[in-house]
Amino acid sequence: MKDIENLLTTFRDRLHGIQSLHDLEQLTIAYLGRQGVVNDHMQKLKDLAPDEKKEFGKRMNEAKKHIEIALQEKKSAIMARDESEHTVDITLPGTAYPRGSLHLVTYAVEEITRIFSRLGFIRVTYPEVEWEYFAFDSLNMPKNHPGRDDFETFFVNGAPDPNYGKMIMSPHTSSGQVREMMRVKQPPIRMISIGKCYRPNWSTKHVPMFHQFESLCVDRGINITNLKGTIDYFVKEFFGEHRETRLRPHHFQFTEPSFEVDITCDVCGGSGEIDGAKCKVCKQGWLELAGAGMVHPNVLKEGGINPDEYSGWAFAFGLERIMMMKEGLKLDDMRVLYSGDIRFLEQF
Ligand code: PHE
Repeated sequence: MKDIENLLTTFRDRLHGIQSLHDLEQLTIAYLGRQGVVNDHMQKLKDLAPDEKKEFGKRMNEAKKHIEIALQEKKSAIMARDESEHTVDITLPGTAYPRGSLHLVTYAVEEITRIFSRLGFIRVTYPEVEWEYFAFDSLNMPKNHPGRDDFETFFVNGAPDPNYGKMIMSPHTSSGQVREMMRVKQPPIRMISIGKCYRPNWSTKHVPMFHQFESLCVDRGINITNLKGTIDYFVKEFFGEHRETRLRPHHFQFTEPSFEVDITCDVCGGSGEIDGAKCKVCKQGWLELAGAGMVHPNVLKEGGINPDEYSGWAFAFGLERIMMMKEGLKLDDMRVLYSGDIRFLEQF
């Protein structure tokens, strides 16, 4: 009988210290569970003399009842306390709903579209899965051009078209030049084509899927001054007033003459030197930015435009490339743009 009293005293002590429903649940299991203290005591019944058995059994049942009630009361008390702590104060401001944002590349596409639209350029997009004809043949590129090798271009399985050749993943936005001439039919053309391009390259400066934006301008009397002026306008709007550009002779099959466009390096300010040492980023003050040139007469003809009457220019920038050059962003590995790492993405 003394055992039962001890059991109850210990129980009350333990119950007293309980603050949470979780702990109360543990205590309930410890006492009333199949292998709990109460059942454990009941085991003693079989070792007792018959007259003692009756009394012990009765007392144990009372003790069990007592424990059950005490646990129930404690439960109600804890729940009432929790509820009063959790009442809603309707005068407090609501919880802010988490908001997503657009991808960094999408913001850049929007900014570029805005800059060119001020000059009257219309944004278009052309197929990512493209025919060889638009990507190469219509651009004056011979069948044996190295760019048509499968080291340089992704080919899509499937039967070639008798007129348009094989299907490929468009390796540049220039594939849209003749498509745009066919769409507009009659100059003037002021195109800004922004889209995905595909080439089998993978490094800090290359991803196999990237973006280019291509500008095409065709009208009467269009010359290199217009080309340089448009590029300068874009560069100053996108990078800032202090950045300069230059045209360097180059070769493309679909432009004549052709250029590469360079921009002054923002790390050394275009001097090529930092404290008497060569600038590590550009080595000579300039960074390569884009390909450009005056549209080749053969390309105009391919698009149904008379080259004796009209002339034009075209240029294309790599979108991820110019994002890496933008001050403040400090992107040193292009691949992070497409890693899907939310810690990177949610900063913008
Ligand atoms: N299509 C060329 C490239 O991807 C760039 C270019 C575009 C050059 C337009 C001249 C005119 O490298």
